[in-house]
Amino acid sequence: MEWLRQELKRLEFEGLYRQRILRDGLKDFCSNDYLALRDHPQVLEESALVLRSSGLGSGASPLVSGYTLHHKRLEEKLAEFKGLPRCLLFGSGYMANLGALQALAGEGDVLFSDELNHASIVDACRLSRAKTFVFRHLDYLHLQELLSLHRKDYRRCLIVSDTLFSMEGDVAHVPTLKRLCEEYDCMLYLDEAHATGVLGAEGRGGLEAFGESWQEYIVLMGTLSKAIGSYGAFVCGSQELCEYLVNKARSLIFSTALPPAVCAGATKAVELIQRESWRVQKLREVSWQICQGLKDAGLEVSCTGTPIIPLMVYQEKRAVRIREWLLEQGILLQAIRYPAVPKGRARLRVTASLRYSREDMSLLVETLKSLPSHLRKNVV
Ligand SMILES: Cc1ncc(COP(=O)(O)O)c(C=O)c1O
Repeated sequence: MEWLRQELKRLEFEGLYRQRILRDGLKDFCSNDYLALRDHPQVLEESALVLRSSGLGSGASPLVSGYTLHHKRLEEKLAEFKGLPRCLLFGSGYMANLGALQALAGEGDVLFSDELNHASIVDACRLSRAKTFVFRHLDYLHLQELLSLHRKDYRRCLIVSDTLFSMEGDVAHVPTLKRLCEEYDCMLYLDEAHATGVLGAEGRGGLEAFGESWQEYIVLMGTLSKAIGSYGAFVCGSQELCEYLVNKARSLIFSTALPPAVCAGATKAVELIQRESWRVQKLREVSWQICQGLKDAGLEVSCTGTPIIPLMVYQEKRAVRIREWLLEQGILLQAIRYPAVPKGRARLRVTASLRYSREDMSLLVETLKSLPSHLRKNVV
């Protein structure tokens, strides 16, 4: 159809055309498998055992007959790990944010959302029908200004933020968010997709990193798909919150439960994070090393000590050209562009991972150092 052709042409012209790239055979420097757990022998063994005994799919949604001991064990393990009373599994992080936020806020309520929150939060805010105010990234004075102007006009209030921002690698200041929630009678919803297994000495996330305690008004969402190396997601909070979500979160109610074998593998991965907290510390070292290496090579990166290292390119088309050149060298670094980041803020998202050897890291830095000058122009 003509309009489809036109639309695709426009995307290509603006440098916003998207393609899936087969990663097979490439050196992947942008995956979220930060702790190298997705193929850990113990994770695979546990998962394979359950695959044989329980089969591939769960067979139904959790409220019909898809909820098994493997799901329950993983929920309990996650609650223990995050230090919260209870956790609930969801099919993915995207579904968890849609389901939980839509259940917690509706017409007459208000959401305050950081401008760089993940797309699933943006979509959840829209779908919730609650009034949404977007505050400037990490600008809590702006948030306070919005709260003082608008909070009083609405019934329930939620402040929503990524804990570790997926495209910036920076971190929300959890103590300030808590203080504002207490002052303005709001719930705090933290998306810990990237913080889980990464932030805090033991990888338990934002509360641990800031030495903060959990309070009843705090809801923590997280994914199994990043540092835990699996697939799926969870929302943790009070017993009542979880009971409420079982009754109200449509993406939990109307969607098939995770495969039991995935749950078993993820439970083992969380156990490994708990037992071997050196992984979390090592990841931090590797994150600094890679970032410093890129900086020394004259590339524009900001080092935060987290495994998300955006290499700024700004122009969308140039980001695509660099990605293509890297592919020719056997390296996969995705070009992140609008709408994942604002227009004119394109980047290559390098991630640190325990998967990489020293040689891998030098290969990455040396290859980027040898970028042809016409491609480097905007990188430096
Ligand atoms: C901050 C954040 N929230 C939610 C998600 C969605 O998680 P999932 O990939 O499990 O759907 C992602 C990942 O892409 C993310 O980065």
